[in-house]
Amino acid sequence: MQISENSNPHYLRIGGDEKIRALVHRFYQIMDELPESHGIRKMHPADLKGSEDKLFMFLSGWMGGPQRYVEKFGHPRLRQRHMPFAISDAERDQWMMCMKQAMDEVIDDAALRKELEAAFYKVADFMRNQE
Ligand code: HEM
Repeated sequence: MQISENSNPHYLRIGGDEKIRALVHRFYQIMDELPESHGIRKMHPADLKGSEDKLFMFLSGWMGGPQRYVEKFGHPRLRQRHMPFAISDAERDQWMMCMKQAMDEVIDDAALRKELEAAFYKVADFMRNQE
């Protein structure tokens, strides 16, 4: 039976480690540069390298590739890990804006961008812990 391209996990469709690295790198660069995302940028450490590594490890597994984050840190418990930060609609939208822009620059496949945007939105929306 022929396996359609769309049955491949996002990890393979995006282009594996190299592309996820590029996406995460650009994501934090954009967050660092855009005045519109200053609100969430200032929640992060001055040096974004650690945040970048953790998001890379998480996304690797989340997209269906190696479960690096889980192997190193255990269950992500993402909502709990975000509790120290006040996240409302505004912060969710800032995060999504940075991720959308990074995806536009790094991912060529428009269908994949759309699928990932919907999937990211679900997680980002779930992180809200403030009215
Ligand atoms: C909704 C808006 C969001 C805000 C404001 C936010 C903010 C933050 C902040 C401030 C940190 C700590 C960074 C550090 O310690 O270096 C963090 C960590 C993290 N975030 Fe988010 N985040 C959001 C959404 C998301 C989403 C949608 C995902 C996944 C798709 C995600 C995945 C992670 C991961 C994996 C970590 C590292 C957790 C750890 O082990 O400490 N975040 N986030």
